[in-house]
Amino acid sequence: VKGGFDSFMDKEIHDQPQAVADTLLGRTDELGRLKLDELRIDETILRSIDKIIVVACGTAAYAGFVAKYAIEHWCRIPVEVELAHEFRYRDPVVNEKTLVVAVSQSGETMDTIMAVRHAREQGSKVLAVVNTYGSTIARESDAVLYTHAGPEVAVASTKAFIAQITATYLLGLYLAQLRGNKYIDEVADYLAELGRIPARIEEVLSRQDEVREVARAMRDTTSVLFLGRHVGYPVALEGALKLKELAYIHAEGFAAGELKHGPIALVEEGQPVFVVVPTPRRPTLHAKVISNIQEVRARGARTLVIAEDGDDAVEPYADVVFRYPATPTLMTPLVSVVPLQIFASELARAKGYDVDQPRNLAKSVTVE
Ligand code: F6R
Repeated sequence: VKGGFDSFMDKEIHDQPQAVADTLLGRTDELGRLKLDELRIDETILRSIDKIIVVACGTAAYAGFVAKYAIEHWCRIPVEVELAHEFRYRDPVVNEKTLVVAVSQSGETMDTIMAVRHAREQGSKVLAVVNTYGSTIARESDAVLYTHAGPEVAVASTKAFIAQITATYLLGLYLAQLRGNKYIDEVADYLAELGRIPARIEEVLSRQDEVREVARAMRDTTSVLFLGRHVGYPVALEGALKLKELAYIHAEGFAAGELKHGPIALVEEGQPVFVVVPTPRRPTLHAKVISNIQEVRARGARTLVIAEDGDDAVEPYADVVFRYPATPTLMTPLVSVVPLQIFASELARAKGYDVDQPRNLAKSVTVE
């Protein structure tokens, strides 16, 4: 069942190209327009919504956080991302003009179910982005956009995360198409970019041995920091979560720009710091992240940099570089997270831990 892999998690990391391809499959017409037939929410309502709130937990919330950058850019609709358990127990401003998007692999996360119920009581439409057919969240929502990642067995989410980003991107492009924010050919261009992602993930996977070797050598590490900017920020959060849950190492993700507002005080000689670097084809964003690498390096950090192929600017400040193939900024999380998943899995294995069943965790959290 593990398909020759050491763990389900490893298998599922390698299933990711297929998870993206399957999530894209059959969702366009012959003219290249997106058609999401399953989105059974009245088009007049979808045209009139003035806010989107993504409710989710853990890794699914980070997928929503990535989607915020894309959907706001494409649709000009404000997108909030809120942990489902926080959303439920405050007094959120939601009404008929709010689209609540509940993201969940299992569709059984009680915190997210409660948020869905609360949103519907307030008159909001709820769209579920779930991986499990017929799950509670799927049944209780107004519409479902399934991620087609296939069953995810390992407790730590990998391919579901990738599929959640893909599906929420489809939602964003669909809304942009419907509301006229983007011309059909622009939507088609973005879809073509999504179509190139499976091959790019394959490319990153083909380089996994370098990541594994570095991970094994870091077996005795007790603390790791992760930095990212823009869509690299949620990727940093996800990299830190994977490391905590699998390798039981203290790990924290920060927005790179936040460093000097506090976290840089943590950096001392030898502190490992991962930095997720955007494409150099976004020069302003890129330059800012390069200077963040310099800042931590100058204070003794050991920098592990995730950067695009050919991005030489990172070389002078990187102790280790993991490369991903050239990818447009908004699409990079789908490739740049992969080395972080491999790193966490291999480090956990090197420490002798059960990669698929980390201590204290359950695959689906069905209590609040
Ligand atoms: C992390 C992880 C969890 C889940 C979270 C939500 O690797 O698996 O953080 O993402 O518990 O679960 P779902 O997506 O099933 O609602």
